[in-house]
Amino acid sequence: MMHRRAFIASVLAAAATPALPRLSLAKVGDGVFELRASVTQHALAGGDHASSDLWLYNGETPGPIIRVTQGERVRVRFVNDLAEPTSVHWHGIRIENAMDGVSGLTQQPVPPGGSFDYDFTVPDAGTFWYHAHNKSWSHVARGLYGPLIVDEPTPTFDSNRDLTLVLDDWRLGQDGALHDASLGAFMDWSHAGRLGNWMTVNGQSSPRFDLATGKAHRIRLINAANARVFQIDPSALGAKLIGLDGFVFDAPRSIDGPIAFAPAQRMDLLVQRQEQGSFALIDTGDFALQQMSEAEPVPLATFEFAGGAAKLEMAPILSPNAIAEPDIQGAMRVPLILTGGAMGRAGAMTYNGEPLTRPVMMEHQQVWAFNGAANMTTDPMFAARRGQTIIVETINRTGWAHAMHVHGHHFRVITRNGHSVENADWRDTFFIDRDETVEIAFVADNPGRWMLHCHMLEHAAAGMRNWFSVGANS
Ligand code: C2O
Ligand code: CU
Repeated sequence: MMHRRAFIASVLAAAATPALPRLSLAKVGDGVFELRASVTQHALAGGDHASSDLWLYNGETPGPIIRVTQGERVRVRFVNDLAEPTSVHWHGIRIENAMDGVSGLTQQPVPPGGSFDYDFTVPDAGTFWYHAHNKSWSHVARGLYGPLIVDEPTPTFDSNRDLTLVLDDWRLGQDGALHDASLGAFMDWSHAGRLGNWMTVNGQSSPRFDLATGKAHRIRLINAANARVFQIDPSALGAKLIGLDGFVFDAPRSIDGPIAFAPAQRMDLLVQRQEQGSFALIDTGDFALQQMSEAEPVPLATFEFAGGAAKLEMAPILSPNAIAEPDIQGAMRVPLILTGGAMGRAGAMTYNGEPLTRPVMMEHQQVWAFNGAANMTTDPMFAARRGQTIIVETINRTGWAHAMHVHGHHFRVITRNGHSVENADWRDTFFIDRDETVEIAFVADNPGRWMLHCHMLEHAAAGMRNWFSVGANS
């Protein structure tokens, strides 16, 4: 790994630069976005550090912001200039199944030199993202992701007060280049996943964002890290929470302490201050960042308030997405027991329909299971009738936290450890700590074959993924 001391100079250099989001619109004349994956030389750590061979969309990290309006048809021609097959998943979009981009389940991966036309409509407004969905543990770690922002039909926030911040942690070697030798390391697959030692927000270390006093800003955070759970307290900037995983609430909510921000989750903030000043967003999570460990902690980003109005302007009214309410009484209940991992009580597991033997476990690095099965099974975990309410009761018997993602649907988190949840928010990815039990409920109204997996991408690859089906007929 890159020596910590080597980072300090470049950290200070980056912090002194007023950073702007490096995101740009990729829309072209005929309404079709072109998204092209290729190997791109990129200097992550800056200074005289080595650059990395990242795998990027359109040569950018993060990939280009795709910005559309709710209800709009989105057409993306994806071109694969990589030497490995890949596909693009539109995370959190209640999309039609054939466009979900899951290699091996909803499409064949796009071969090197090939292309695939994604064509779908976006039913919900909000903060979403896209990322590779073939060998995601490798492709996403190398940079294949970007933001997908769906605007409300009538704009709420001023476009220049609507910021998207994509968080990632990269694992760099001593030379400052991406440490690709450790991709796929058994240690990561069986423990907390691949954690990085170089934090970026929109591709930069500790960037600064200039905000106007008095004005209402919407800040959209996206956690694109493979496995890192951030602990962040946006109330430090006077922020209120206005939405999670793309779905806004009907009113802003005060924040009272750090929030666990798990891989793939999004958090929308209302940020508004009357006083000038500089405020930092800091990660206080379990796996403190090596990047900052020898100096004062380096914030994820800082926000500089200046030059706006003396009075607070009215914050825009939020309009939540319309979605079918689960019918808790008539629901089909599905248990989902998580086992395995280092220091876990694994119990018996199957893999490809056979009992998982130790040699097979080691060869395929299968160490986690859903209901005793490591990885995908031939039959779905459950088959829902279209329109049926599903309650998934997830019981975490591993020694680790997980970030559970359901494709094609948003769900409400209804209970946690037997207690009903006060704000049963709509989510597409929920955090579950060790020894926790979480119930989610959703209406299975989107026909097709959908994945359910841990979004700690090493955990998914090492067994924590499977699928369910939703029938075509009501
Ligand atoms: Cu964001 Cu199956 O993934
Ligand atoms: Cu996990």
